[in-house]
Amino acid sequence: MVNNAILSFDGKSIELPIYDSTTGEKCIDIRKLREQTGAVMFDPGLGNTAPCQSSITYVNGEKGILRYRGIPIETVAEKMTFVETAYLLIYGHLPNKNEMKAFSNRLTNNELLHEGLLHHFDAFPSNGQPMSILSAVVNSLICYSPEIMDTTNEEALDNAIAAIISKVRTIAAFSYRKAMGLPYIYPDPERSYCDNFLHMMFSIPNKMHQPTQEAVKALNLFLLLHADHEQNCSASTVRIVGSAETNLFSSVASGICALWGKLHGGANVAVFEMLTNLANNKETIPEFIERVKNKETRLMGFGHRVYKTFDPRARILKNAVFALLDAEEMKNDPLIKIALDLEKIALDDDYFISRNLYPNVDFYSGMILRALHIPLNMYTVMFSIGRMPGWIAHWLEGKRGEKKLVRPRQLYTGNVLADYVEVDKR
Ligand code: ACO
Repeated sequence: MVNNAILSFDGKSIELPIYDSTTGEKCIDIRKLREQTGAVMFDPGLGNTAPCQSSITYVNGEKGILRYRGIPIETVAEKMTFVETAYLLIYGHLPNKNEMKAFSNRLTNNELLHEGLLHHFDAFPSNGQPMSILSAVVNSLICYSPEIMDTTNEEALDNAIAAIISKVRTIAAFSYRKAMGLPYIYPDPERSYCDNFLHMMFSIPNKMHQPTQEAVKALNLFLLLHADHEQNCSASTVRIVGSAETNLFSSVASGICALWGKLHGGANVAVFEMLTNLANNKETIPEFIERVKNKETRLMGFGHRVYKTFDPRARILKNAVFALLDAEEMKNDPLIKIALDLEKIALDDDYFISRNLYPNVDFYSGMILRALHIPLNMYTVMFSIGRMPGWIAHWLEGKRGEKKLVRPRQLYTGNVLADYVEVDKR
């Protein structure tokens, strides 16, 4: 249903169309605003701006709702695999048996890296940042799949999608092996997606790693909970880069870079460092909370641009952490105890209550990764593997949807006109 909003500006009354989303939120169309008034909208951080239409993921931050293609995240977590979730996000519907088999086969057929790519790993220092290595190698995948530069080749695109989802896991594991001075372990086509990743990380040539069912289940849960989150910083980055008709590999590589920052996906590392500092008695919890309230630091893993209540992913992850670690290990784990103490204090403290600051996905995700023996510098890489289907889905939606180059306006605050001064007169 279309209604109009009336904006009074400079003595004139301007009508702006209002759209209803399928879930009832209103959206005012300001596309003609500048044409009609000469003015632009000011919205730093784009916290109140919908730059596109999207049918991938729904988040209601007030009610703590997250749905992938309409399916509640709790159901996705309970019933689905990461690969099935990836298909759902990318292709827009739950796969039937044949579609699922074909997609899984495509992933398997694309799991190996071109041998030439392995030399890239040799060129990085062994202490190189894994997120930088991941983004560089993912970006370079286009050199091995030039056929997708033909944007009308749908078969090549399907292969590229499978290549990214499958190879990102191989690249992540290989960069870890390189950093540890261990030989690369090639993917095993007989293993499932998560089992195969743990195999490439932890097998050694004369002893194949067989992860427990619980470990495979926990990794699956971790990945699918991270699979998409509508117009977040990295998905928006991918959409912006894609809007210039940049290829899929390079667009998702830019998403990896955006995710790296500690206010976004890098928060899972920052949470862990915060908990470790507290465990090492660098300061007490009340001292730390005091510094947070004085704005000297932030309580990492708390707060969210959209959620003003519990992030549903944090709830699911917290339960999974408890299920994964046995009671004895749990009792003795100082980090879990500190996380629970911090959560309790924050949820009772007016500073956090009045600002609607609740645990987000990163608060408990590191606990799962630690239980899986994933090293700390790989935490955000793990998030990238999980987020890949979402980035691909957003890139595709941009390519097939409104196809509009993203090019915002600004509120200019610089010199109106300045003189050039010769260097010897400055
Ligand atoms: N600890 C302490 N105070 C906080 C926190 C926090 N984690 N987050 C927000 N605040 C305070 C701010 O200081 C501000 O206070 P004020 O009103 O007195 O000035 C108020 O809450 C609003 O904060 P903003 O920064 O304006 O909120 P915004 O929506 O821009 O921030 C963000 C969202 C960046 C996630 C923020 O909550 C944060 O820095 N959290 C910690 C980092 C983190 O966990 N990031 C992961 C997010 S989930 C993800 O990306 C996967």
